[in-house]
Amino acid sequence: MNLFLISDIHGNDNFDPIKEKIAEADLVLCAGDFTMFRPTDEGLSVAEKLASLNPSIYMVCGNCDTPDLEGILVEKGLSIHGKSVVFGKGGERYTLGGIGGSLHTPRPTPNTWSENDLVDVIKGFETAPDIIISHQPPYGAGDTVMKVMHVGSKNLTYYLRKNSPILCLSGHIHEAAGIFRIGQTTVINPGSYREGHYATAQIEGRDCTATLY
Ligand SMILES: [Fe+2]
Repeated sequence: MNLFLISDIHGNDNFDPIKEKIAEADLVLCAGDFTMFRPTDEGLSVAEKLASLNPSIYMVCGNCDTPDLEGILVEKGLSIHGKSVVFGKGGERYTLGGIGGSLHTPRPTPNTWSENDLVDVIKGFETAPDIIISHQPPYGAGDTVMKVMHVGSKNLTYYLRKNSPILCLSGHIHEAAGIFRIGQTTVINPGSYREGHYATAQIEGRDCTATLY
């Protein structure tokens, strides 16, 4: 299964350079931050423009998106924040789970939570996901700021080690793009599409390989 991974669009809704890659993917995942603190309708416009490029798409919001936007995207079946869904293609079936927003940030942003809140979000997963979309990176993977400081979620890292999903797509920390490993899980932070970055991944069984652009 071929995946297209994108995050931290922050208002750059010129998808022309990537629209063919998006259309060809079996599954498109987006880890949020559709705008830079713009109102809900502007975030919705970016999310729906992206969703129009491939019907097999799931997403969550980021900390720079409004909590209202998350609710609207959940109603539209686009955001999977706090729930799990099953995606099938050919003979393959994968369960996906979503975590929107981020840990509280040094300067307040609209859509944030505490480590304890994360436990409640994860309780919404009916089945342990094979693939997690989480705007917030886990602690120790794609979460380094100023080259030395980890700002990821320790509860998410604990969850990944315990449940071993195949893939965790994250975003949020633009400068920490990369492909990482926590236990059995491949963690991908594709970087910010506002700066032109994205990733592709291939999943075969429990194996995941990825390329950053
Ligand atoms: Fe963010």
